[in-house]
Amino acid sequence: MTGNRAVAYKSPGVVEVIDIDYPTFELKDGPGVNPANVGRKVPHGVILRTVTTNICGSDQHMVRGRTTAPADLVLGHEITGEVVEAGPDVEFIKVGDIVSVPFNISCGRCRNCKERKTGICLNVNPDRPGSAYGYVDMGGWVGGQAEYVLVPYADWNLLKFPDRDQALEKIMDLTMLSDIFPTGFHGAVTAGVGVGSTVYVAGAGPVGLAAAVSAQLLGAAVVIVGDLNEERLAQARSFGCETVNLTKGEPQDQIEQILGVPEVDAGVDAVGFEARGHGKDASTEAPATVLNSLMTVTAAGGAMGIPGLYVTGDPGAADAAAQTGNLSLRLGLGWAKSLSFTTGQCPVMKYNRQLMMAILHDKVQIAKAVNAKAITLEDAPRGYAEFDAGAATKYVLNPNQYVKG
Ligand SMILES: NC(=O)c1ccc[n+]([C@@H]2O[C@H](COP(=O)([O-])OP(=O)(O)OC[C@H]3O[C@@H](n4cnc5c(N)ncnc54)[C@H](O)[C@@H]3O)[C@@H](O)[C@H]2O)c1
Ligand SMILES: [Zn+2]
Ligand SMILES: [Zn+2]
Repeated sequence: MTGNRAVAYKSPGVVEVIDIDYPTFELKDGPGVNPANVGRKVPHGVILRTVTTNICGSDQHMVRGRTTAPADLVLGHEITGEVVEAGPDVEFIKVGDIVSVPFNISCGRCRNCKERKTGICLNVNPDRPGSAYGYVDMGGWVGGQAEYVLVPYADWNLLKFPDRDQALEKIMDLTMLSDIFPTGFHGAVTAGVGVGSTVYVAGAGPVGLAAAVSAQLLGAAVVIVGDLNEERLAQARSFGCETVNLTKGEPQDQIEQILGVPEVDAGVDAVGFEARGHGKDASTEAPATVLNSLMTVTAAGGAMGIPGLYVTGDPGAADAAAQTGNLSLRLGLGWAKSLSFTTGQCPVMKYNRQLMMAILHDKVQIAKAVNAKAITLEDAPRGYAEFDAGAATKYVLNPNQYVKG
């Protein structure tokens, strides 16, 4: 039997590459596995040899110790793979296919899946609607930052790339289809971005940069990206965005210098609950900062796309209210301006095929925009540390040497 090396969360700030079992078509007990999922049979699943698997800002919430993730939880929800075994109930996906895995695990059979709301599938996570690989409170599906991984409901979940050689040639772009490209695109779409829009994206991490590229793809007139990290802002400028540095103060003043008005048509939160304050408060965490500043800068009647993650509980939060997921929101302002809000996991399946076509036909350069860099699986701890320190890089793990050069 083949072994399996995988990236596991150990303790706050520490990840390690460990030996785990090669997957089988059954969900076994292990760190973070919901008891109601133990023994669950997965004849509709496939086993993938991982082609690429990316480190995400969502992983960092766990690795920073801001969740109840247990030690030895295997990380990784951004997975691209080659099918090496198919369960008896898999009809259309074949051994040898190169596939992108939406980070949301969904059954394709429940009411929400039938309505394409795959981020809140009712059947895969006994705790609550919605699931993902390698994530705390998501049912216990083993993460894909590993050499091999099990994917359930394979015919439904997997996006097959049309041509193997072409897929491997463009793999650094296609690897972004499992999460950040659809997520950024969803942020822009739900913020109402269209031809001629002015857009403010809070956050210049990979999701913010993906939202910015998506806004350009959707025809935005001006895309302004805000962060406190100058290296990440330079990355946003490298593909034609305007930028605002929030260490200098609130974004509306700098937006006014760029647009002549202190408002934009569309706002995207690509930061989430670990948001920092602005200006003199830039060194402290203030979880409602981005939501409140988006309500300020988004023009009346506009919309806010909120892919940035918010939690129901944050034991590590600075203030008592935030520890139970309560934020000090200026909702009256948003109400008075008739703003609309879209939150939640991105339903990846709604967008991944179209974005794949845009990549395959050279309509977008997502890997370049997020500065994608491949590293070995054994190097994952370094990738996590550099990413946490704010590197303007999207780290792509390459466990089986599919990525050359
Ligand atoms: N909804 C989804 O489906 C989905 C999918 C993927 C990621 N996410 C979430 O999206 C968020 C971004 O992910 P990422 O990988 O880019 O993370 P990241 O941590 O790399 O990026 C966040 C960036 O926000 C910046 N920031 C902090 N406070 C800010 C402020 N007040 N204004 C502007 N920028 C500020 C940080 O400096 C950092 O560069 C995370 O919360 C992640 O969990 C959600
Ligand atoms: Zn992710
Ligand atoms: Zn479902």
